[in-house]
Amino acid sequence: MLLFDGAPSENTYGSDLEKNFMDIGYDLFLDKSTLKTTFIAADIFDEDSELKQIAGDIDIVHAASFLHLFDEEGQHKACRRIVKLLKGKAGSLFIGRQIGNVDAGVHVGSIDSSRKRFRHNSQTFEEMWKKVGEETGTKWKVDAYLEDQNLHAMAEKMGLESATIPPGSKWLSFAVRREA
Ligand SMILES: C[S@@+](CC[C@H](N)C(=O)[O-])C[C@H]1O[C@@H](n2cnc3c(N)ncnc32)[C@H](O)[C@@H]1O
Repeated sequence: MLLFDGAPSENTYGSDLEKNFMDIGYDLFLDKSTLKTTFIAADIFDEDSELKQIAGDIDIVHAASFLHLFDEEGQHKACRRIVKLLKGKAGSLFIGRQIGNVDAGVHVGSIDSSRKRFRHNSQTFEEMWKKVGEETGTKWKVDAYLEDQNLHAMAEKMGLESATIPPGSKWLSFAVRREA
């Protein structure tokens, strides 16, 4: 979307655990010969991954449907990694959207029941960033809110496995800006 709106692709990076998804992306958008985005296949939890090359270089990190894959500690850890990727100055920005819940808490994934996914509401998301700030010696202004749609009802209507999207599920949108 950024590139469609005119952002220079040479200034952009994309990352995912799966390198195959990047190759599929070129096939989908037919832009292998024009796109100058640097793609880095990496595990967010691997401190020695290729992401090390861009640590401290990034102005804006966008993460969609990502942190919600993990339990509370995993999300916390991932946020500390995101702090390291961002430039170490006020104004650095982390934005995105993920599934949240009016009642924050642990939800067990039905695809892999051993994985406990934590669903934040705006308050717990803000609390997480307060802790991340304390641990990393940084300060963040958090704007997070649950959108209106009832994702549980939508999942049921679409015949999707609604156990992973229990009642109270809503999109949690957020913008987390570094203040100090
Ligand atoms: C639900 S998809 C979201 C993809 C995309 N952001 C979107 O909104 O369509 C979650 C992505 O996270 C990736 N992922 C899962 N665990 C990861 C990890 N530990 N490090 C990096 N990426 C991971 C998966 O490969 C998957 O592509």
